Amino acid sequence: MPTPTQLQKLKAAAKTAAGRAYAPYSKFHVGAAILTSSGKIYAGCNVENASYGLTNCAERTAIFSAVAAGEKNLQLRCVAVYTPTKSATAPCGACRQVIYEFGPHARVISFCAGREQIDVSIGALLPGAFGPQDLA
Ligand code: THU
Repeated sequence: MPTPTQLQKLKAAAKTAAGRAYAPYSKFHVGAAILTSSGKIYAGCNVENASYGLTNCAERTAIFSAVAAGEKNLQLRCVAVYTPTKSATAPCGACRQVIYEFGPHARVISFCAGREQIDVSIGALLPGAFGPQDLA
């Protein structure tokens, strides 16, 4: 479980990242931040493309940034997702799968400009997941 301070930093990082979103098509800005088992935080935003299908979600940008930064045995403890909206946004299916890959026990917290907050385990978001264990 993240400490209250870690949680506060994680959420702040997700919020800052949302401000960096490149979302000229949907205008839907998303920021995500991940907390690793070693206590590090990595953030990411959604990056859209004129070829819409190439869009990368905020959650995956954050996770891929951690891997690209050299995190070898990346284990996610917590993922925070922020949208400047009235209600909170849960990660899309593709992002749930990628979160599961690196954090089968991760906690996922979606928050927003309004008061709603979603706080669930990745297991609840992706029951019966296919994952590394299936290839072992
Ligand atoms: N988006 C995310 O960044 N994360 C999600 O989990 C849901 C959707 C982005 C993708 C796209 O740029 C915009 O939100 C609208 O779908």
